[in-house]
Amino acid sequence: MLKTFSILPALTLCVTISSTLCSALDNGLGLTPVLGYNTWNAFYGDINEDLVKGMVDLLVSSGLKKAGYNYFVIDDAWSNINRDKDGRISANSQRFSSGMHSMSKYVHKHGLKFGMYSDAGEKTCLGYPGSRDHEETDAEAFADWGIDFLKYDNCWAPASDWVIDRYTAMSRALNKTGRPIVYSMCDWGVGNPWLWAPKIANSWRTTGDVGPSWESMLRCLDNTVGLSKFAGPGGFNDPDMLEVGNPGLTEQEQRAMFGLWAILKSPLVIGTDLRKLSKAALKILTAEEVIAVNQDKMGVAGDLVAKEGPEEVYAGPLEDGSRAVALFNRHTSGTQYPISNITVYWESLGMDSDEEADVRDLFAEKNLGTFKGAWTGAVDLHDVRMVRITPKDNRREHQEWRPWVQHGALHAALRAVLPLSRAVPGRPDKLARAAQQPLEVTEQ
Ligand SMILES: *[C@@H]1O[C@H](CO)[C@@H](O)[C@H](O)[C@H]1NC(C)=O
Ligand SMILES: *[C@@H]1O[C@H](CO)[C@@H](O)[C@H](O)[C@H]1NC(C)=O
Repeated sequence: MLKTFSILPALTLCVTISSTLCSALDNGLGLTPVLGYNTWNAFYGDINEDLVKGMVDLLVSSGLKKAGYNYFVIDDAWSNINRDKDGRISANSQRFSSGMHSMSKYVHKHGLKFGMYSDAGEKTCLGYPGSRDHEETDAEAFADWGIDFLKYDNCWAPASDWVIDRYTAMSRALNKTGRPIVYSMCDWGVGNPWLWAPKIANSWRTTGDVGPSWESMLRCLDNTVGLSKFAGPGGFNDPDMLEVGNPGLTEQEQRAMFGLWAILKSPLVIGTDLRKLSKAALKILTAEEVIAVNQDKMGVAGDLVAKEGPEEVYAGPLEDGSRAVALFNRHTSGTQYPISNITVYWESLGMDSDEEADVRDLFAEKNLGTFKGAWTGAVDLHDVRMVRITPKDNRREHQEWRPWVQHGALHAALRAVLPLSRAVPGRPDKLARAAQQPLEVTEQ
């Protein structure tokens, strides 16, 4: 049913030292990663109008909208199971009886942008109509309903179709509507999209679906290491939506996911039931200085810059010449080192070892002092310490530092051993999950 692609012919690639040589999609959107909410990770296909309205209300009243989360996206299962006699897609008659235009108005009325979901195959992952061969009709319907964002999935793609063609067709169709619509490609990393998607999309998934577990989060992270060079304003790597707030991750693991996703310049898309959001999860999701790293205007993605076994350092440059740094403790639970002291050396950040720099803790929002050459932080098991390191002498070469230029060899070595670096196998976890959902058989 679903073809996987291994390595792309070199001629189609936009492989360069830096993404700045690759042209980004010219729709004026996604200059920093999208901040938003999506229904999938919390509700899968079990969604309806009242639930969606409730989540919209809570996104506003919880303060999350104020913190920057301004896209509200309805994922799979919003439509009828069949197209109408004219081939048009329509809102599910039972669960979204007021229709999508009305949902869109509700979302917009709350000062949010409205996102929807479709699929680059014959059906969506839950078996609703996909947009393959209906790209223009569907894009027009989406634009008529006033959408601002489209997540485009990869289930049920005919084996004969080339993934680039399927995703390019929707990119063109969206452009043709004349409405600015953020295009979020969800092809699970099939066909190494970071090599070709920057020209057609505002973000592209680097991995199969995330689930609410430590192992799944690590898989998404590891599959995104080494891809910083392909990201930039207008087009970002997407290791999938957040699991912050969901059972399955400890508070430390939720903080780690949030901090690492922020530094990788991933879209930060909340996927939890906001009715049950804990204070701890809300605090993580609204960490202002961590969000500021993600939304830094320069839009340069961070990446892995040092690794000693399970102790890792991620870093990226910020517009003002500082470095955003995450010290990550991924020791196995239950070992004798619940807390690790992890050191970031200035040299791994393109700074001199005898330089002085100010260090600020970004989750704690606290200055830690001025340090020379290195800083060591105590990091809880499965947690991150996020800091901003600002050199006293903010020289031009500091500002031009890029993690992939200095650490390209480390990234290449790690990607070479990734089981999923080439292609995501045929039916990733999304389909397994979808198979457990009762498929609705309502007809219009
Ligand atoms: C469509 O593409 C053109 C050419 O890249 C671009 O200038 C224009 O802004 C795009 N329009 C929309 C609505 O995305
Ligand atoms: C971390 O460093 C502190 C301060 O130097 C020290 O007291 C502590 O024992 C260290 N912890 C570990 C796990 O090495």
